[in-house]
Amino acid sequence: MATNEKTQETKNTGNKKIRYIARHDIYHRIWHWSNIIFAFLLLASGFILFIDFIGFNTPHLGIQVARVWHRIFAVSWMLVTVVCFTINPSNLLASFRHIGHSWDKDDIEFMAKFFPYMANPQSVHLPKQGYTKSGQRISDLAMYVIIFGFMLSGIALWAGPDLIGIGLFSFFLFCHDLCTFGFCILILIHIYLGAGIIPSYTPRAANWMLGDGYVRESDALYHWGHWAEDELNVGANVIELEEGVKPKGVWKRIDIYEEHLASEDHSPEGKSQAKPGPEEMINRADNRNDYL
Ligand code: HEM
Repeated sequence: MATNEKTQETKNTGNKKIRYIARHDIYHRIWHWSNIIFAFLLLASGFILFIDFIGFNTPHLGIQVARVWHRIFAVSWMLVTVVCFTINPSNLLASFRHIGHSWDKDDIEFMAKFFPYMANPQSVHLPKQGYTKSGQRISDLAMYVIIFGFMLSGIALWAGPDLIGIGLFSFFLFCHDLCTFGFCILILIHIYLGAGIIPSYTPRAANWMLGDGYVRESDALYHWGHWAEDELNVGANVIELEEGVKPKGVWKRIDIYEEHLASEDHSPEGKSQAKPGPEEMINRADNRNDYL
């Protein structure tokens, strides 16, 4: 097994070892932290603007302060988003590649069993999943639509009715409110699952995005069995540490699926002769007709 030497070295003192898989790099985690901070600041300042809009008597100064802060938070959020995805665009591209991936029979079975599993996690067993679970793909897509919907409609609203016309302005106002409504519902489910509040989801779940970005091997196999097996076979993102030693944060991770795609010759002559990557991974991928 290879270790991610840039991140950490394998400790070898004979004690019990735990393997971890790098899941989210530093830029994705910073971006996600910015989502949490700015989403809640924008929700709070937006709420003041909204209650004024629907006719509550809000003090004039309060409205002015909320309006200015709402814009400052919005620009800061967009800036962090642009910077993080410009430094590492593959975080965004890979997320959309996983979201857009077609569903196989495990994905369908996962969705069919998800709610029975939530009600009775001890006796319902979910099938293995790829990098993102099928249900997670729906929820991630909705989250991205809402995030970018907020940003685009916000820019249009800032431009104002004089610039874009009252019709478009009203349309974007409706979109902005719709995003807020969708966000309030989705974020409750997202936090419930993402923070590991459901007993069968480990409380370590929040650590994947909010902490060091590593997933324990056992958690990875439990949640995303196919992905974990691929990562363990390839090894590029895997580290092994003594029990009790905390991993340092993931700085950089290698997208094994991107590497695999890049190693293929897509020309008509070369189509049938994909350069062999790690063998087990290619076999698995061929069998599932996945990520190819
Ligand atoms: C305390 C609040 C939150 C917690 C505990 C949390 C937790 C998580 C976790 C654990 C994941 C990663 C799942 C995985 O590894 O596949 C995740 C992904 C994600 N979260 Fe959150 N989250 C929170 C708030 C938010 C907020 C406020 C937003 C948006 C405004 C957001 C947007 C996203 C998105 C878009 C992803 C998918 C990222 C990707 O493409 O991989 N999250 N969250």
